[in-house]
Amino acid sequence: MAKRALITGILGQDGPYLAKLLLEKDYKVYGLIRRYTNPNFSNIDYLGITDDIEFVTGDMTDESSLLNLIKNLRPDEVYNLAAQSFVGVSWEQAKLTTEVNSLGVLYLLDAIRFFHPKAKFYQASTSEMFGNNSDGGVQSDETPFQPRSPYGISKLYAHWMTRNYRESYGMFTSSGILFNHESPIRGKEFVTRKISDGVAKIKLGKEKEIRLGNLDASRDWGFAGDFVEAMWLMLQQEEPDDYVVATGETHTIKDYLDVAFKHVGIDDWKPYVTVDPMFKRPAEVDLLKGDCSKAKEKLGWKPKVSFDELVKMMVDADLERVGEE
Ligand code: NAP
Ligand code: GDD
Repeated sequence: MAKRALITGILGQDGPYLAKLLLEKDYKVYGLIRRYTNPNFSNIDYLGITDDIEFVTGDMTDESSLLNLIKNLRPDEVYNLAAQSFVGVSWEQAKLTTEVNSLGVLYLLDAIRFFHPKAKFYQASTSEMFGNNSDGGVQSDETPFQPRSPYGISKLYAHWMTRNYRESYGMFTSSGILFNHESPIRGKEFVTRKISDGVAKIKLGKEKEIRLGNLDASRDWGFAGDFVEAMWLMLQQEEPDDYVVATGETHTIKDYLDVAFKHVGIDDWKPYVTVDPMFKRPAEVDLLKGDCSKAKEKLGWKPKVSFDELVKMMVDADLERVGEE
């Protein structure tokens, strides 16, 4: 019989890539969406899988909706990708961020514990939990957490709860500590997509500049399509565990600008980029670079798409979309 998976955050970036992977593996996929008058299916439409997913409604902040869902669906695997995932806004909406990212996870874990404790659970943890901490410029499974944003703090609560339910109740709960991963369906407020969209608009004469914040921050950027494979692999192991998932490379925003602009034939991006303090953060995470040796060794996972390939993929996709508009 086909395995049944419930994915929260199905309309975001990772949800569609994970759903596509599970559908290819013959899973029955349920996708949790919030109640909207006009839901936005553009990301799953982009991957061509909208008709293959069964949508169920609920909300991470509504405990009874999650209890009912787990009671009725009894899924084999639950992938919790839902979140207020934008670090920048987490200072302005710290309470909402905590309700969705922290308490929402507690509600979902309890729903599984009460109604279907055999379900395997994946929690979307994040490199943002490390803050500026590292071991000589690299973060691994051994690096202590020191979050610097309300988002990072909310995710750390969920990370520890996920671990606690494993230790306290023997549940199969695993967290992926994923470093930044991007794609053509990345939200436009995140810096990579903001740049790829801006570069396409500048190239096609529709905009004159991109306004950005801190250009010196470094991130370990991978491709979302590669990273969702690690999520699935974590739930196929004999034992639950937590894993860092990263490419092991780090690049600044300036590096991203270099590759993106050069790809459309513009050698110097400086005349097209304005630094606007509005996009700077009250506390910045300066450098993320992950060591995912454990994931490589135990899951047999490794990233396939390089940094240059990722940037070009995103710019090409935006050139096509902006061209069609
Ligand atoms: P995303 O594009 O922002 O998607 C998040 C999804 O969560 C959206 O579909 C959103 O629904 C849903 N959501 C928000 N609040 C909700 C609520 N109250 N109830 C139900 N659903 C809710 O994020 P992503 O990039 O796919 O990331 C997936 C997960 O991985 C997130 O938990 C994120 O924090 C984590 N993560 C991401 C990265 C990364 O680099 N992408 C790295 C590490 C960890 P709507 O569509 O209705 O708004
Ligand atoms: N968004 C944004 N917009 N970021 C900017 C801008 C801008 O105009 N200018 C500079 N940046 C810098 C940010 O200050 C940050 O240092 C870096 O670009 C990346 O910002 P985001 O793309 O917003 O991603 P993030 O690293 O804060 O968070 C993402 O990755 C986390 C994993 O490390 C999100 O996907 C989180 O949900 C995820 O957990």
